[in-house]
Amino acid sequence: MRYLTFALGKGRLAEQTLDLLEQIGITCEEMKDKSSRKLIFVNEELKLRFFLSKGPDVPTYVEYGAADIGVAGRDTILEEGRKVHEVLDLGYGRCRMCICGPKSAGAYLKHHELIRVATKYPNIAKDYFYNVKHQTVEIIKLNGSIELAPIVGLSEVICDIVETGSTLRENGLSVLEEVCSLSARMIVNPVSMRMESERIKDLIQRLRAII
Ligand code: PRP
Repeated sequence: MRYLTFALGKGRLAEQTLDLLEQIGITCEEMKDKSSRKLIFVNEELKLRFFLSKGPDVPTYVEYGAADIGVAGRDTILEEGRKVHEVLDLGYGRCRMCICGPKSAGAYLKHHELIRVATKYPNIAKDYFYNVKHQTVEIIKLNGSIELAPIVGLSEVICDIVETGSTLRENGLSVLEEVCSLSARMIVNPVSMRMESERIKDLIQRLRAII
């Protein structure tokens, strides 16, 4: 039997995924050691391998088949646009992709004005403004603390993740429009899906039963 390889996005998502896998009897003890700098972990008994990567790299590893299975946020999967099968909504990491800004910026959206949109997710923002709203905008790619942009005058609005809403509230910003809902998803390489269909389908079934 060959190894089935899992790519997990580093951080809370990976921790929640390992908890979930543990509930169906899939464990990887050596992965729990937080001080370790090791990147790849093996469960010999079950012929499974796990590795951690930056979230946005998970769909890349899965598209190329370097990982058979990946877990990433729906935001990352949409943004990366890789050829992978999304097979399961894991239910955690729930949040929303939203267009946010000061309340006054609502009028720019309503009247389809040519505004600047700051975001970590240029593809999601482009798709929303161009294909859904049919509004021409200028997209400005940032790498974090997106809420700063409308405060310091870099952009009129942002396209960003809202979870509790407290970052917006504390900075005098509001949700103006909702783009889509997000959560952690399991993705599978299309070739692995065919070649290892029994093992992968069994895994999906067992996870579905406990979600
Ligand atoms: C995310 C997101 C928002 C915040 C939303 O940022 O970009 O800033 O969380 O959460 P809230 O609605 O519960 O306040 P993250 O902390 O991942 O860091 P970043 O801004 O550097 O991307």
